[in-house]
Amino acid sequence: MVKAPHASAFLGSLSAFEAYDVTPHIGTRFPSTATQLSAILKDDEKVKDLAHLVSQRGVVFFTNQDLEIQDQKELGYKLGKLSWSGHPETSGLHVHPISEDLPELGRDVGIITSKGGIAAPEKHNFRSRASKDWHSDVTFEPIPSDYAILKMHTLPEVGGDTLWASAYEAYDRLSPAFQKFLEGLTAYHNGGQFNVYAKTHNLPIQQNRGSPVNSGDDLSATHPIIRTNPVTGYRGLFVNKAFTKRIVELSPDESDNVLQYLFRHISENHDLQVRYRWEQNDIAIWDNRSTFHTATKDYGNVLRSGNRIASLGERPFFDPNSKSRREVLNIQD
Ligand SMILES: [Fe+2]
Repeated sequence: MVKAPHASAFLGSLSAFEAYDVTPHIGTRFPSTATQLSAILKDDEKVKDLAHLVSQRGVVFFTNQDLEIQDQKELGYKLGKLSWSGHPETSGLHVHPISEDLPELGRDVGIITSKGGIAAPEKHNFRSRASKDWHSDVTFEPIPSDYAILKMHTLPEVGGDTLWASAYEAYDRLSPAFQKFLEGLTAYHNGGQFNVYAKTHNLPIQQNRGSPVNSGDDLSATHPIIRTNPVTGYRGLFVNKAFTKRIVELSPDESDNVLQYLFRHISENHDLQVRYRWEQNDIAIWDNRSTFHTATKDYGNVLRSGNRIASLGERPFFDPNSKSRREVLNIQD
């Protein structure tokens, strides 16, 4: 039996900081408030190692951070650029299509709040399945997000946890025959819920959304279903319930059934997920290429709010020579 390696294998220049894995397959936490991203930001080698750690572990948590919004933006710029040599020059910070709804911090800050805006395009119905909101950020863009940084400043006393799931582990746990079947396929992603929200709130769809390619009112893109993460080289499953509408090469019935299976594969395997209970000013940084996430709307009519930076990465690709995470790390249990 070979287990997943501990986070210490991926810390590099961050190894002086206390860190532990929250689960074997996803999530690493820096529990000490002595570990501050505002200090890590000043050292490019540490920022690069942080990007690599996030890409390996899917999501990384930092406790009670003093990082200001301008520095959060700078960290967003740096993570992608320092993480690998192929990061496109034209990829900046994402501007959400409906960011004008809550514009106080600038077009490139996504305000995550229970009041409305980008995280609440539909009214919450407590009788609908919570698992319907699993997603990766902005996969309806031709150039979607690589890293996201979320700082939560206003929280309910209890509730409002966020869950993440590993796309590497979701891929690795499919049978080889099913993996092979999915490898050549592409899927159509659409963020039409934001068109509806914009229309009903009389907002324009923002243009030039962090990349010259991400423009126009049509919020849709076609991406490979199996995606290679360029930082780790690992393969991951790249479909999500919120934005992936159909598999292009299949009939509508086939597509619906395969997507339903894959969405359940992500939401029903809690051993490839991590759940985080926020404290004020905690920060989570995740790799949108290789994880999914969803918030938990169990806290009633109170305010829950934070600021998210989503940097843009590369056009999603599948490298047939890339390997699975389990294969590279020799994880067999
Ligand atoms: Fe999100």
